[in-house]
Amino acid sequence: MVKEIIVIGAGLAGLTCSVKSANKNMHVKLFSPAHSERSQSVMAMGGINAALNTKGEDDSVNEHYTDTINAGQHINNHNAVEKLTNDAPEIIDWLSKLGTSFTRDDDGNVDVRYFGGQKKMRTAYAGARTGKQILTAINTECRKWEYKEKIKRYVGWRFLSLILDDNKVCRGVVMINENTEEIRDFYADFVVIASGGMNKVFGKISGSLHNDGFVSGKLLHQGIELANMEMIQYHPTTIETPVKRMLITEAARGEGGRLYTLRNGEKWYFMEEWYPEQGALMPRDVVSRSIYRVCHEDDMGIDGENKVYLDLTHLDEKTVKTKLDEVYDVCMNYLNLDPTREPIPVYPGVHYFMGGIRTDDAHKTNIRNLFAIGECSSQYHGANRLGGNSLLGAI
Ligand code: FUM
Repeated sequence: MVKEIIVIGAGLAGLTCSVKSANKNMHVKLFSPAHSERSQSVMAMGGINAALNTKGEDDSVNEHYTDTINAGQHINNHNAVEKLTNDAPEIIDWLSKLGTSFTRDDDGNVDVRYFGGQKKMRTAYAGARTGKQILTAINTECRKWEYKEKIKRYVGWRFLSLILDDNKVCRGVVMINENTEEIRDFYADFVVIASGGMNKVFGKISGSLHNDGFVSGKLLHQGIELANMEMIQYHPTTIETPVKRMLITEAARGEGGRLYTLRNGEKWYFMEEWYPEQGALMPRDVVSRSIYRVCHEDDMGIDGENKVYLDLTHLDEKTVKTKLDEVYDVCMNYLNLDPTREPIPVYPGVHYFMGGIRTDDAHKTNIRNLFAIGECSSQYHGANRLGGNSLLGAI
């Protein structure tokens, strides 16, 4: 018999789950308050990790696994990380076949670059618009399944609660149509939650305010276990804008960007002094804490304010305008600053939730037939996520 599945959330995790389930001959109902093109996933800039080993650096799945566990301070779900890192090269291949326009090297291989907390070039990318390009490819695939009536989309619908039997088995969901205010029950064999992080709790952060944490909060009230809720990631380099903190991708440092403040009027590359081996490409928690120390303990923020400089002015202009295209656009549009000529004032901002709905390595929650995937789930990232592992985890 054909199984029915409900997916809550149409960002990368929800979309991927939907097309994979349709491919397995399931019927999918895909709910989201907004269109996929408005999801948090399109804001992911820098890349997606996979040990493709195309740079002669002897990279391996095992090293990707070890870097992920070390960055997560060993509280990650180790089995899940093993699957994640093993599957990564195949995922890049799948995304390429779907038509993701990855940046390629001169030999035609998907190009990879350095990212924080990893000593090998392992982060595949599409300029600095990687999330957008991947989402476009999977969304197009989703439309094919919609045409075949295997996936039905419900846009403008918000989650209200789970329908549970005896608080042990999930049977469906209660949803509200935000346009008509119709409230309706939907039933299925399986429910998958892909509702993203809890951004709105913090207001001005790098993520989308569509992700307000309501789903996770409601699930907690309904007896679903959450885990590692205190593990919240600060991205080291965000900029202040009137509406939110905008991300300046880690790829800017991966491509050679340097962090400095002024000491006795001279540039002081504090990360390079404190961490000579990896400098500004230490894991995010270390870089964020270092900037915090410079500004708050050493009282050496630029102009006495909470900011340091991210300097790209020594990089080739073409690199900035092609490999870091979105950084260039964001700086020009929001700061009226040309990053090929002036340093960017940055400070850490809340970026990602490692904690969330507790799942095992098959994405199962403590309630039968209820699953959680993507940023709303707590599984892969432990105490600190590696940049480039969120798109991977979502897919
Ligand atoms: O810096 C970035 O491009 C962010 C990537 C990520 O959070 O994985």
